[in-house]
Amino acid sequence: MKKRVLTTRENLPGDGLDRLSETVDVVAWPGSEKPGPADLAALAPGVSGVLALGNDPVDGALLDAAGPSLEVVSLASMGFDNVDRAAAAERGIVVTHTPGVLAETTADLTFALILAARRRLGAAGASLAAGSWGLFRMHDYLGLDVHGATLGLIGYGQIGRAVARRAQGFGMRVLHHDPYAADDALSTSVDLATLLAESDIVSLHVPLTEETRHLISARELAAMKPTATLVSTARGGVVDEEALLQAVRSGRLHSAGLDVYEREPMGAELSPLVAEEHVVALPHIGSATEATRAAMVDLAVDNILDVLAGRPARTPLPGTSALPGAPAGAGVGMLT
Ligand code: DGY
Repeated sequence: MKKRVLTTRENLPGDGLDRLSETVDVVAWPGSEKPGPADLAALAPGVSGVLALGNDPVDGALLDAAGPSLEVVSLASMGFDNVDRAAAAERGIVVTHTPGVLAETTADLTFALILAARRRLGAAGASLAAGSWGLFRMHDYLGLDVHGATLGLIGYGQIGRAVARRAQGFGMRVLHHDPYAADDALSTSVDLATLLAESDIVSLHVPLTEETRHLISARELAAMKPTATLVSTARGGVVDEEALLQAVRSGRLHSAGLDVYEREPMGAELSPLVAEEHVVALPHIGSATEATRAAMVDLAVDNILDVLAGRPARTPLPGTSALPGAPAGAGVGMLT
């Protein structure tokens, strides 16, 4: 009898799900909205694997609903804050994610946010569309330069480095804060206070963990230059959104470029940040290209197929094991 794998979406980019269904029976959440814990738990009994996205809830109750058959939870995402890692480790369940395949695409989007926020592209485009572009006035739509600016990267893993490479083309000075990454040819390692004080653009590239929750709050925002831009393609919870709203509204901070929020998805109940003139807000599309999303699904499927065939997972989360029931690996560092 084939093993069963629960997927939290019926359709995913690429042919990964077709490949998966050649080997296992796929049980898919059929809804068009994000499934809640109870929705997934109802489908879980007896499955050997779960394929979830980066903000589907994977908690102890879901793992228990699946029962002892469950060997692997595979995320088609780099971020993993939606998973109760301790609960998975206690039950000897492998948890995997998709590092590597999305770094360049997410770095591209990071630069799009930097350019859009600094050069006020959203406000300028909206003004054009509203028919307000009449006389060419020298003082309209003035933004701040990106070329030659100082870029501060909080988190200097694969995505942070990919952003640093792009910054070279803009003649930028690059700083990073990451206890796990020293200086290299692209960027200088500094402490957080120096990064906040010296950067024109601060860009976040850390996972959401207990260590990084609200890493950027009122105190950090106050330490940034009034002409600075905050950019986040990481996770919403890394920034205290209320403090960011106050900083942008009061003009204490020049601008923000956001792809991620404390509450996702938003539906029609928008965060007040979305309406701010100096905020460029996107709906969590950092990895959203056809090729990259297909590569993420492929890697997630490969992780499931490997574990269910008794092979070590290709990309287990740091701090979890690559084989069911095996001892956990090294802990999750602050930054990735
Ligand atoms: C990721 O891979 O973490 C993206 O943010 C999508 O969840």
